[in-house]
Amino acid sequence: KRMISHSVTASSLIVVSNRLPFVLKRTEDDGLVRKPSAGGLVTAVAPVVVQSGGLWVGWPGLQMKETDSVPESVEGDVSPTAGLKSSQVLSVNLDDVDYELYYNGCCNATFWPLFHSMPDRAIFNEKFWMAYKKVNEDFSEITLKALRKMQTDHPEQVPLVWIHDYHLMLAANTIRQKAEEENLQCKIGFFLHIPFPPWDIMKIFPWEDMILQGILACDLVGFHVEDYCLNFLDSCQRGLGSRVDRKLMLAEHGGRTVRIRPLPIGIPFSRFDQMAHESPNCGLDTNNVKVVLGVDRLDYTKGLVNRLQAFERLLEEFPEHIGKIMLMQVAVPSRTDVKEYIDLKEDMDKLVGQINGKFSTPTWSPIRYIYGCISQQELAGYYRDADVALVTPMRDGMNLVAKEFVACRIRDPGVLILSPFAGAGGMMHEALLVNPYEIGTVAKVLHRALTMPHDEREVRMNALRAREKIYDVNFWMKSFLKSIGTLIEEDGEDVTP
Ligand code: F6P
Repeated sequence: KRMISHSVTASSLIVVSNRLPFVLKRTEDDGLVRKPSAGGLVTAVAPVVVQSGGLWVGWPGLQMKETDSVPESVEGDVSPTAGLKSSQVLSVNLDDVDYELYYNGCCNATFWPLFHSMPDRAIFNEKFWMAYKKVNEDFSEITLKALRKMQTDHPEQVPLVWIHDYHLMLAANTIRQKAEEENLQCKIGFFLHIPFPPWDIMKIFPWEDMILQGILACDLVGFHVEDYCLNFLDSCQRGLGSRVDRKLMLAEHGGRTVRIRPLPIGIPFSRFDQMAHESPNCGLDTNNVKVVLGVDRLDYTKGLVNRLQAFERLLEEFPEHIGKIMLMQVAVPSRTDVKEYIDLKEDMDKLVGQINGKFSTPTWSPIRYIYGCISQQELAGYYRDADVALVTPMRDGMNLVAKEFVACRIRDPGVLILSPFAGAGGMMHEALLVNPYEIGTVAKVLHRALTMPHDEREVRMNALRAREKIYDVNFWMKSFLKSIGTLIEEDGEDVTP
């Protein structure tokens, strides 16, 4: 068994991600305020950046003016970025053209659908690609500034540059080249938060070799699951002719050996468990109607249309549920300037209307549809009080909703229905797994979930909770740091299961 200390980094950390760990909002008097982001990445990584005197490079979510500066965190801030000084934040500005061509274009209209194996939805456009290269250069330049600052402040340490996600797949290349030229020491790690597609899909991207070389400029490349690692190794071998070792998960590139690792991300389990204890009654468990819950960004990868159709099929084929169940679907607005997302919103509005029109009675409607953001605290109440969670993406890197749901089941054990095409589907074995393309089967599985005896629900949920509690987001972060050799290991907390 290995023991890992609480002080996790042996060197300073420079995190590079498209978004900063908070968003900036403009106030009425033209100032800026920080608004916390709630994601697991921020929860786990921000405190380590604070503790290691690290830096975070990212986009603040709005256009910064020449006169703007990142505000300090305010007194009483309890978010994970409390204590992150403005001097630890290096913001990357995206102008309107970058936002349109890099973010809406290359990231969200090309890579997002392609990496989720939906190439027919992907748009390939040279202008998008030029903008992507330019913005990746901008991020690299600012990261190099961060490295120079580190070298001056802590010359004894070798900093770790940790790049996140599909927005920044070229950045490592420039960072490595220039750091070598300037004799700046660093290790570079990359983690992809979405799937890595099979080579057959990857090769559709006209400049796929540049992407592969960009990622291979790192020392360690992390993916959620083994399949994505193998897809990546396959692409390196077939696209670049790299020598790869699938068993040891290594790829040779430019005279270096790059480590590839499956490192499935977790959630801040205890925070969700605690929120579920603190969340007031949200009204879901009071009216004798069983609640099937869906919570997703409004994204075509999440399988929302199929999900509504499956719910409709359930009401048709198992009419005993009419009047006794409802689907509560929360759809969080996302990437609202991208056409596919605008179209999906219209399709959802129509379908919800149709199904409700078909089945509603004066006192009951089958679907409650919330299009908007809801707080994590409120969400924890829904997760706790719903009867079934329906997590049925067509494809998903991991899917954290499935994990958040089980973390919040502190009272009645609910039932998790999960798609095998989410990364989480390969690990959460006690969920009811169902192929979201088979609408009739989803309806049957829903019926099974709604009628499952308490004992079976309890056994399944206990096992699901126990696993997520161990493999939480801190475990994930420590595993990444351990894999790249940037973790202090001494007597302390035991993290080996
Ligand atoms: O899961 C992938 C991801 O891009 C995350 O990095 C991000 O937090 C989330 O989807 C939301 O996307 P966006 O940053 O485009 O709003």
